[in-house]
Amino acid sequence: MWSTAVVHSAENSQSYAASMEGIRETYVRYAPGVEHRRADEDEIVAKIVDELHALNAVAYDKHQHATRDAHAKSHGVLRGDLTVYPDLPGVLRQGLFGQPASYPVMVRLSTAAGEIRSDQIAGLRGFAVKVLGVPGPRALPDDDTGNQDFLLVNKPTIPFGHVEAYLAAMRLAKKQAKVPDAALKVAGVVARTAGHVLDAVQLPKPAPVAGLGMPNTHILGETFHSMAALRYGDYLAKISAAPLSEPVRTLTGVPIDRDGDGVLRELVVDFFRDNAAEYELRAQLCTDISTMPVEDASVLWPESESPHLPIAKLSFPPQDAGSAARRVYADDVLSFNPWHALAAHRPLGSIMRVRRQAYEASTSFRHAMNAVPRVEPRSIEELPG
Ligand code: HEM
Repeated sequence: MWSTAVVHSAENSQSYAASMEGIRETYVRYAPGVEHRRADEDEIVAKIVDELHALNAVAYDKHQHATRDAHAKSHGVLRGDLTVYPDLPGVLRQGLFGQPASYPVMVRLSTAAGEIRSDQIAGLRGFAVKVLGVPGPRALPDDDTGNQDFLLVNKPTIPFGHVEAYLAAMRLAKKQAKVPDAALKVAGVVARTAGHVLDAVQLPKPAPVAGLGMPNTHILGETFHSMAALRYGDYLAKISAAPLSEPVRTLTGVPIDRDGDGVLRELVVDFFRDNAAEYELRAQLCTDISTMPVEDASVLWPESESPHLPIAKLSFPPQDAGSAARRVYADDVLSFNPWHALAAHRPLGSIMRVRRQAYEASTSFRHAMNAVPRVEPRSIEELPG
């Protein structure tokens, strides 16, 4: 943990002496000018949202139940707490992490495809965190959720890191939409059906429609990333969550060795029947906007320049992570959205801006077609046991 004796306040200065491991001399300060919109961004965004929706409507016709345009399949839902570390240096004491506090959280574990597939197919896994009851001004004036969502996946970058690249990749991805599960399992190729191209993260550029998948490992041992940047109070950051306690750390890289299309849920439920878990939430601050851009989320922010620094702990006690009531609540009632955010954690860059419309369209359709009211939780007790 941080030693308060060596903490320097960043509040009154643009820079301060590096005095502890991981702390750098200067950090880029947030200002609206760090973002740059293309002149035709609205047009591209509309095309992305329309194409995602069209594919989701096809999925609805097939299943007569609306799922998410992306991350359709959940693998467990967790109840826990986020505890802000009490002695953070000033530069990390920002927004939600501005003072020591503890908040209840809900976490939905998922796979990125918009279609429900076998867990034997490797794919990008999601870790969506909803922090409940966070005080402070909101990123969007019409967002009255009062919650802070962090949507994380187990890769640090997205190869299609701005809207133009994303639209092009979506169009290529559509061509792969009809590959059957069996073929995907045999080839180790990752599905991106229903058009969500996040699943293609591990595929070599410039051929995102075919390639070998990433290893299929235990979801609870993964490290999860925001991929894109967000405002971190006075600064800019990417956020990540890494296994901290021994029982989850030992699961890192452990291959899935059980049969079954729902094996990830089984593994999560089995783990939490007897075990607690802790993950560390970390911020990687931007030190140079030219090498750590916000408008191209395909660029890996070098850890040699700026390491991921611990800011809070996520703790989950043993629990029934896979009850039917919980799954239905998380899949059909809940909406996670990077724009459920404090102004201090405003999502940044075009890949974040497109998500404002994309998530709204997906969640509206899902709730309307399933005739399920959209309810944003105000209390952790709303999560079924
Ligand atoms: C920057 C990188 C991104 C990350 C880390 C990310 C992560 C996630 C995660 C973890 C979820 C699951 C949330 C849940 O459990 O409910 C999700 C859902 C979703 N994502 Fe993304 N995503 C990214 C970019 C995008 C982009 C660029 C689009 C579309 C243009 C998109 C569209 C969606 C949609 C439509 C949903 C479902 C929303 C709902 O119906 O509730 N995502 N994403």
